[in-house]
Amino acid sequence: MRCVFVTRDRFPSSMYKKLEEVGRVEVYPYGESPWSTRGVPKEVLIDAARRCDALVIYIGDLVDKEVLDAAERLKIVSTVSVGVDHIDVEYAKRRGVAVAHTPYVLVDAVADLAVGLLIAVARKIALGDRLIREGRASPVWGSLMGVDLKGKRAGIVGLGNIGVAVARRLLAFGMEVVYWSRRRKPEVEFALGIKYVELDELLSTSDFVVVALALTPETERFFDREKFGKVKRGAFFINVGRGRLVDTEALLEALEDGRLAGAALDVFDVEPLPPGHRLAKLDNVVLTPHIGSAAVETRERMAELAAENVVAFFRTGKPLYAV
Ligand code: DGY
Repeated sequence: MRCVFVTRDRFPSSMYKKLEEVGRVEVYPYGESPWSTRGVPKEVLIDAARRCDALVIYIGDLVDKEVLDAAERLKIVSTVSVGVDHIDVEYAKRRGVAVAHTPYVLVDAVADLAVGLLIAVARKIALGDRLIREGRASPVWGSLMGVDLKGKRAGIVGLGNIGVAVARRLLAFGMEVVYWSRRRKPEVEFALGIKYVELDELLSTSDFVVVALALTPETERFFDREKFGKVKRGAFFINVGRGRLVDTEALLEALEDGRLAGAALDVFDVEPLPPGHRLAKLDNVVLTPHIGSAAVETRERMAELAAENVVAFFRTGKPLYAV
């Protein structure tokens, strides 16, 4: 009988039920919220790769060469995420292991959060909340003066599905939207009325830089000192992609020397962000703990889709969404 190994014990129950259609489901007693980005121990993944036919994982669970080398029975890794930077996809392919993910279903949730973060940092919402709770809300006028969105330029870096959904939303706020992406998308430019610009132009002219890039070996630390040096003085930086797209030290410098007016970050190079981190000491930074897709309906759909990928793979030879 097939064995399907799931690294979390509290995913929506419909997921485990679906997986039972194709095998015996083994569940790791993870214990905390399944949506924690703390990965399960390497030995657990190695053991599962050796004994099981399918692995269902979440971000933070690192399926690297070492795990894949142990894959004796493993045929598919299905992640409950769109991002696959925690999986060595190329090596998996070489080892004959399929990789599946959950695109599309989280696009709106992540775009909603990106816009929420943008407004939160532009209008100092999180700071206002903090000041009230700490009994420091008065006088508010100086420290809580934000900036308008209307008429401002938003530069989206990475125009995948999430980037497009962010663009749609920002246009509704009366913002001008430009983008840079590895692949130009004339059909989206035409449909939405947004403009492609070179990256340097985007950085030097945008009031809000919104990062929605995928993390790949080529985009690791994409935002380095040089790129932050090109950003328009007084711009805001929003990241809903991956933390490792950004050199955090360079971001901190840009914030501390005032080049950036603020940043709003859902993702970090190390997650969870260690307590007392320098980013958490800055009043002009809004932080959320990788909750881009954390809406009940979206996460349920992601969990189901990860299971459907496994079921489709064993029934037809192909997951619904192969990477
Ligand atoms: C993803 O799907 O890649 C998100 O970052 C996790 O929710």
